[in-house]
Amino acid sequence: MANKVQKPSDVVFTIRRYDPDVDEAPHYEDYKIRVEPGMTVLEGLHLIRETIDPGLAWRYSCRMGVCGSCGMLVNGRAMLACNNQILDISDKRLVIAPLPNFGIIKDLVPDLTPMFEKHVSLSPYTVRDDGDEMENPTGEYYQTEEELVRYLQFSYCIRCGCCMAACPTLATDDKYHGPMPLAQAYRYNADTRDAGFDKRRGEAGDAHGAFRCHYAGECSNVCPKGVDPARAIQLLKRQLVLDYFHLLKKGSKCEIQDSNAGNERNPKIPDPPPFTVEQK
Ligand code: FES
Repeated sequence: MANKVQKPSDVVFTIRRYDPDVDEAPHYEDYKIRVEPGMTVLEGLHLIRETIDPGLAWRYSCRMGVCGSCGMLVNGRAMLACNNQILDISDKRLVIAPLPNFGIIKDLVPDLTPMFEKHVSLSPYTVRDDGDEMENPTGEYYQTEEELVRYLQFSYCIRCGCCMAACPTLATDDKYHGPMPLAQAYRYNADTRDAGFDKRRGEAGDAHGAFRCHYAGECSNVCPKGVDPARAIQLLKRQLVLDYFHLLKKGSKCEIQDSNAGNERNPKIPDPPPFTVEQK
C-alpha cells in the first residue's frame, strides 16, 4: 500500500485492554477513527484517548523512533507505533496488543523489567582491565574502520523489546536471555576497547544463553533499527566455542594514542551494513 495514493479513511482500532486492578482477564474493544494520510499508529492512539477513551494506556516519549518506548503488536507484527503509518498497514482495521513475551502493566504497556535485568546481567558496557588508565586517561582509544564495523550495527539498538516479542525461544523459556541482551553482549565482546568477555561468558553461555537460540531470525525481521540480533547471537556462539577450545583472542584493545598527535586515525563513520537476514 505504500505506493498507492492514500485517502482519508475510517479505520477501526481493535485494542486489547487490561487493567489488572479492575479486569479479571484481557479483552478487546473497538474504536473507529477518521485517519488522514500520514497519521502514525501513535497519533491514532492519541486521537482515541483525546476523543473517545481517556483511560487508554500505552508508553511513548520521543515520537520519532529513537527512545524505544512505543513498541507494540500491530496486526501480528511487533513494531514502533510512532514509526509506522496507519494506512501503510491497513485502511480498515488495526488489531493492537501489547508486546508478547512480557507481563502487562496496563493495556498496551508491557513490563520490560525482565529484559533490562537480563541486559544488565551481561555487563552491557565497556569493561577495561587497566583501572589506572580509566581513572586518569592519558589519551584516546582510536579504532580503525574495520574494528568499528565489527560492532557498529549492533550499537544502533534502542532496547524497544520488539525482538524479544518476536522470539519463539523466549515464548517457551522465559529465563532465556533473549536477542537484545545477547546481541548487546556480542556488541561489547566485539569492541577492541573491551576486555569483558570473561565477565560475560558465564551468563552468555549458560543454559538460558546463546545456545538456546534456534536461529528463527524473527528478531532481525522485526527490528525497527535494522539491527541483526540473530547474526550477533550466532557470532556470540562462535566466540564461546572458540573460547572453550582456548582459541579465542580476547582483550585486543586499541593502543592508546597520543591525543595531541592529530586526528588522522579517527575513523570515518561508515553507513550501517545493509539489513539482511540469512535464510536457513
Ligand atoms: Fe520513542 Fe516511539 S515514541 S520510539
